[in-house]
Amino acid sequence: MITGKFPSLRLRRSRKNDWSRRLVEENNLTSNDFILPIFLIDGKNKRLPINSMPGVYRYTLDKLGPIIDKAIRIGLPMIALFPYTDKKKKDAFGTEALNENNLVCKAIQLIKKKYKNEIGIMCDVALDPYTSHGHDGLVNSEYVLNDETIEVLINQSLLQAQMGCDVIAPSDMMDGRIGEIRKSLDKNGYQMTQILSYAVKYASSFYGPFRDAVGSKRLLKSNKKNYQMDFRNADEALREVALDVKEGADMVMVKPGLPYLDVIKLVKENFKIPVMAYQVSGEYSLLSNGIKKGIIDKNVILETLISFKRSGANAIISYYADKLDKILK
Ligand code: PBG
Repeated sequence: MITGKFPSLRLRRSRKNDWSRRLVEENNLTSNDFILPIFLIDGKNKRLPINSMPGVYRYTLDKLGPIIDKAIRIGLPMIALFPYTDKKKKDAFGTEALNENNLVCKAIQLIKKKYKNEIGIMCDVALDPYTSHGHDGLVNSEYVLNDETIEVLINQSLLQAQMGCDVIAPSDMMDGRIGEIRKSLDKNGYQMTQILSYAVKYASSFYGPFRDAVGSKRLLKSNKKNYQMDFRNADEALREVALDVKEGADMVMVKPGLPYLDVIKLVKENFKIPVMAYQVSGEYSLLSNGIKKGIIDKNVILETLISFKRSGANAIISYYADKLDKILK
């Protein structure tokens, strides 16, 4: 018989029953914790599957209704718009980014007109969906130019704000762009437009399916290592966040998500600012394909999403956001 030297505290006591596990739970998910990315495409009456992302589609503007209705019904606070741009509209300068009739501009206006402030709209600020070389900025002999790119990003931000975008999300990783964009927004009357900075964005191989979805994958020359962060670094992430906070970011993003939980935690502990985690396309596709093939159980989705909350993220950008009703059940 087991005697006295056994522990008097048994942590398994609180794990015995479901009610008790629920009682002591430290983290949970609600629909308020999610941002849904939506891919847009030109044309009419289409909802096109994306091969590399099971269960994710590109929508023509006339087909946005049901997905946005669902986002609102579930209770998502915000959607993020990403355009698939026709190759014919791409050039070295990403000129289409500044076209007030581009897909994103049309989508913002349409959604704002129909849904007002029932749901927030966030837009990427970067040139990669629009450039013939697939880079986020202007390129000069393989180097992505910083200050020259910022000039364009300022105009892209102003255009999106003018269309009604609620949250400007620079995802380009140029130095100093948050401050410059903030100043221009303020000067032009958009003091209340928020900025969510992709402050900590790593040069990652997990973005493949997204680049496929926006049509930049095959165009991309070399890699993005001269502007996106080196995945060997974490101190540098804090320096990036410090700068963007000083320059006026309302929220910051860490991206990708799962391989960088340590960074999410570091950022949250060091800066008391809303931190968003981006569960990127490659993470989504890995899980989804594993589930589809029966290699892993679908509960990995919930387990993974909770890990973001546990690490300190306030919200998660996830391609699972529109499937939350099923996931949380
Ligand atoms: C573009 C951008 C990327 C993602 C979001 N915005 C790709 C990249 O930087 O190459 C990736 C999102 C995902 O993989 O889900 N600046």
